[in-house]
Amino acid sequence: MRNDVKKETLFAHLSRPSPALGTAVNPSVTRASTLLFEKAEDLYRTDLRGYGRHGSQVHDDLCTAFNTLEGGAGTSLAASGLAACTLAILSHVKAGDHLLLTDSVYGPVRSFCLNYLKTMGVQVQLYDPRIGDGIQALIRENTSVIWLESPGSLTFEIQDLPAISKVARTHNVTTIIDNTWSAGLTLNPLALGIDISVHSATKYFGGHGDVLFGAVISQSKNTAHKVAKTAKYLGYATSPDDAYQILRGFRSVIARFQQSEKTAESLANWLDTHPKVFSVLHPAHYTHPDHALWKRDFKGGGSLFSIVLNPVSPQHVHKFINALEIFGIGYSYGGFESLAIQCDPQLTRDILKKPDGPLIRFACGLENVEDLKQDIEAALSII
Ligand SMILES: Cc1ncc(COP(=O)(O)O)c(C=O)c1O
Repeated sequence: MRNDVKKETLFAHLSRPSPALGTAVNPSVTRASTLLFEKAEDLYRTDLRGYGRHGSQVHDDLCTAFNTLEGGAGTSLAASGLAACTLAILSHVKAGDHLLLTDSVYGPVRSFCLNYLKTMGVQVQLYDPRIGDGIQALIRENTSVIWLESPGSLTFEIQDLPAISKVARTHNVTTIIDNTWSAGLTLNPLALGIDISVHSATKYFGGHGDVLFGAVISQSKNTAHKVAKTAKYLGYATSPDDAYQILRGFRSVIARFQQSEKTAESLANWLDTHPKVFSVLHPAHYTHPDHALWKRDFKGGGSLFSIVLNPVSPQHVHKFINALEIFGIGYSYGGFESLAIQCDPQLTRDILKKPDGPLIRFACGLENVEDLKQDIEAALSII
């Protein structure tokens, strides 16, 4: 195949076995804990995969897919997105270090840093996601990691990645971003100077609400080696069946992403004019405070956004969510199914101001957009 083809073509052809009569179009899955050797002399060779925990061909193929996605130099896999986040962090902090954490970080990562890392003697400091190059003032001699997430969880603040990575590089600080929202399709943080891009592949790459997975993609071989070594120390391993499912998700991820992205944009535009909605929090929408920054660095939107309702009681918020018939009530996004949650019970902010009304998050799936509009309209009409 030519080497200048677009990602849709690359992903459709990734890891196909060489054609022969009757060859399957997809790679095969090998399930193994024990791998056999021909001779005792081979048991301790370092150039061979010696044990099931060290992966299989389908794992290698999936790593290649993630490297292709983001232009990475190396990828480590994890059994969930959260495990990918903690692996990236643990490979770059030690006792006595200082870590800077964006205030709109995904909740369980916030909890890991503020609780678990603190018990290990790591100092954790939250910062305003909109800080830009002002991050310079927070860097200490022992700062080893800046954790970013753009847009932020639930409230969708956009971070100035080039400004933050430039400061970090002058201080030899590792930058790690949770890039789940963009699926690496509309944002390429490694090209903007970020060292590590982390994904919950559970979302767009799984795409069907039935598999948990994570990936840590590094910009340099050296960083990738550090992450892989830590994964080995910690005994990280993923099922070949799950790896296969994620690789299969790559085939159709762009088409699925684009449809749900279009749906989210359409719903956001419509909800922005709805009398019961106070505001829409979607970086691709012109009313978003960071819209200009999003336009500069992103090539598109995503399927996930929030709205702030005009103030109503928590009981009315429950009524609204319970009245939705097409949107399921559940966490996650990037799947075929649309989902909605009320966010206020989990919304923790130390620096940012919380929204002035109830916060609702919509994850757009692949259903018809007019059906989704009618579902929301009917539910809003009862509050
Ligand atoms: C931004 C973000 N990062 C990480 C995760 C964790 O991913 P997983 O559910 O695969 O552990 C999630 C899950 O919702 C997420 O939204």
